[in-house]
Amino acid sequence: MRTVQFTEYGPASVVHVAEVEEPHAGPNEIRVAARASGISPGETALRAGRLRDMVPLAFPYRTGFDAAGVVDEVGEGVTGVNVGDEVFGMTSMTRRGANADFVILSAWAPKPAAWTWQEAGGAAGGVETATRVLDRLAVGTGHTVLVQGAAGGVGTLAVQLAAARGATVIGTASEHNHDFLRSLGAEPTTYGTGLVERVRALAPDGVDAVFDCAGGALPDLVAIAGDPARVVTIVPDPAAAALGVHLSHSAPDDKTGEAVGAPADPMAVHGLAVAVALADEGRLRVPVAAAFPLTEAAAAHELSESRHARGKIVLVNQDSI
Ligand SMILES: NC(=O)c1ccc[n+]([C@@H]2O[C@H](COP(=O)([O-])OP(=O)(O)OC[C@H]3O[C@@H](n4cnc5c(N)ncnc54)[C@H](OP(=O)(O)O)[C@@H]3O)[C@@H](O)[C@H]2O)c1
Repeated sequence: MRTVQFTEYGPASVVHVAEVEEPHAGPNEIRVAARASGISPGETALRAGRLRDMVPLAFPYRTGFDAAGVVDEVGEGVTGVNVGDEVFGMTSMTRRGANADFVILSAWAPKPAAWTWQEAGGAAGGVETATRVLDRLAVGTGHTVLVQGAAGGVGTLAVQLAAARGATVIGTASEHNHDFLRSLGAEPTTYGTGLVERVRALAPDGVDAVFDCAGGALPDLVAIAGDPARVVTIVPDPAAAALGVHLSHSAPDDKTGEAVGAPADPMAVHGLAVAVALADEGRLRVPVAAAFPLTEAAAAHELSESRHARGKIVLVNQDSI
């Protein structure tokens, strides 16, 4: 089968498709014949070698964490899903390899009928991440939440999931994305200089929780929340520890958790079922910034590194999807 991988640190051009042995589902896993999968911005940083001291890689490194497809193997101990079912989900953190023709999923849910394969392929990682952080921030009805970096792959889902919990959501993005943020249910504002004042004007009674999907502005975000305990970042921003801001990540092992300066949080896979229910009600969509054939994964990495994709970048296994 085809898999996307890289065998050395370097620019996007080191990403390529290789022919490898098909993987098989082990206990508590399923295998899907993949239709689409997501590009993870964190992996572009790993590939570039920017995190090599914190998270050294073993090569070849097979990319991708979330995928959607048709179940074609069901592992021992798995119930409630059958060969032929259409699902979306994620690999284990240690296995990865979702940008491939056959993918082993360790967490999954039925593909909502309302989602295209592209949407489903890019959904699981962002849904899990957003759920993990919104849970930690205990976001619920009546709260006001700021999502910093709201137009990206995680932010677009965080906005919708927070709104579905009954929160009022303020989202930051470049001006040309403001109507887009409104369509997702957020009151938009720009990030950068003057953010504290702009958010205070939009939320004169204060902000209950801040979800940082961008990094680089934590002092402002703490000032907005009034307490670092009400800010969670998903970006390994060096300022986080000094400011007392929690970095949420779901590292594969304790060693990596120590390396990035914070223990790993449990994965919020229960978010997948919530996402299905919301999608079925037409209340959750997965904005797709761009879709590339699997063979053009390097171009997808390059776009991801622009840091201005609107929504999730996906790879498709067949050009017709
Ligand atoms: N720890 C975890 O568990 C975890 C999980 C998933 C992702 N991550 C990390 O979280 C980050 C976000 O992931 P993602 O998938 O949402 O990334 P993404 O899709 O690449 O984010 C792109 C978005 O970032 C916005 N942006 C760029 N610079 C910004 C800035 N200075 N301030 C605010 N927003 C800015 C852009 O908005 P405009 O185009 O409107 O300017 C764009 O919409 C990445 O660093 C990723 O590696 C961590």
